[in-house]
Parts: sequence; C-alpha cells; structure tokens
Amino acid sequence: PERNPLLTPVLEWYARSARELPWREPGATPWSILVSEIMLQQTPVARVLPVWTEWMERWPTPAALAAEPPGEAVRHWGRLGYPRRALNLHACARAVTELHGGEVPADHATLLTLPGVGEYTAAAVASFAFKGRHAVLDTNVRRVLARAVRGEEYPPKATTAAERALAESLLPGPQEAPVWAVAVMELGALVCTARAARCADCPISGLCAWRLAGKPPYEGPARRG
Ligand code: ADE
Repeated sequence: PERNPLLTPVLEWYARSARELPWREPGATPWSILVSEIMLQQTPVARVLPVWTEWMERWPTPAALAAEPPGEAVRHWGRLGYPRRALNLHACARAVTELHGGEVPADHATLLTLPGVGEYTAAAVASFAFKGRHAVLDTNVRRVLARAVRGEEYPPKATTAAERALAESLLPGPQEAPVWAVAVMELGALVCTARAARCADCPISGLCAWRLAGKPPYEGPARRG
C-alpha cells in the first residue's frame, strides 16, 4: 500500500500544536482513559476536565468505583449532562472488577461488551490506552477525512462503510497508528472545525480535496457536524 501523504504533516502539526490533556499524559491509565472517553462522548473538553480530575482522585481504579453504590457515580457527575453515562461507568467498573480481573480489557471486541461502550469508544480505548491499530471515527475525524480526502464539507449523518474503509486505508503501521488517530482528531477539534475551516493554520491544506476544489459549500439541509 502507498504511504498516506497526510501522515507526516499531521504528525508534525500534532507534535507542535496539541493541547496538553491529562488523559494523554504518561500517567493516564486504561481506566482513566475509558472514563475520559465516556465523559467526552457528549460533553466538551473544558467541562470534562474538572469532573474527570475529581473522579480520578476519588476513584483511581475500577475497583474503587465498583465498591460504591451507583448513586455515588451520578452524584459526582456534576453538570456533564446525560447522567446515564455515570451509571454506565459504574456498571463498567463492576464488569471490569467482576469479569476481567480488575483490568480494563485491551481487546476491541471485549471492550464493546462493556456498558455504554460503542464502536467509537472501544476503538479509542484500544488505540489510546493500549496502542492498538484501529480506525477511531469520531465526528472530528470524520469531518477532516470528508474534507481532505472526499472533498465534501461535512461527513454523512451516520458513519458509513465507505468512511470506515477510507479510515482503515489511511491507517499507518502499528507504531504510528495511535498518534495518527489522536492527531487527526485534534486537527478536527482545533483547526478543521465544523464552524470554520482555518485553512491558513492547517498542515494539509495543500493536499485537501475540499480546498483544492474551491471549498464548495454544503448543499444539503442545514446541519452541524
Ligand atoms: N483525546 C483523546 N480522546 C479525545 C476526545 N474524545 N476528545 C478530545 N480529546 C481527546
């Protein structure tokens, strides 16, 4: 397979531009990364940060949370919204403790069996916590690939097989796959955003199909994403 031409510019951009987020630091654990991904599913980073920090101090391991009644997880959910996620995390803690020897599973298929863990979250944890080679398709990644490769301003509403196949075809080798995944996500979060494509700050603007086509405006119904 040909080398993905986006790889080097995106990795170099990430090395100089990424936010420092605690779940990306060397001290992060599979459990703290799983907690971050579930919190980040529907809540922006700025609101997640203080709640995540308090949770990890209070319950640094799955066993610590599993020992509590589920209501404690909800009580410390703060204003993150969608509090079912607190119950899901509590159920994850119990499943990990009772079925997986207290360790978050590394394997994508096993991660998918955990409460509240869908395709995205399983791939994110397998990639970021265990350095596995997975296509991690969140809304930011899907938008970057839609623009840069497909030449469309926005991705489809729900993830398609074509998007998944494209993302898999772009995956670098095992050494670089996890940083590629988080770097594309960060590019979508900081530069190639839903509201404004800051092409002047983009490391792949010279390769971007959407930009090279003159940034054709989206022609469907009004939408975000
Ligand atoms: N880093 C890793 N996963 C992330 C996410 N879902 N949102 C923001 N930053 C992240």
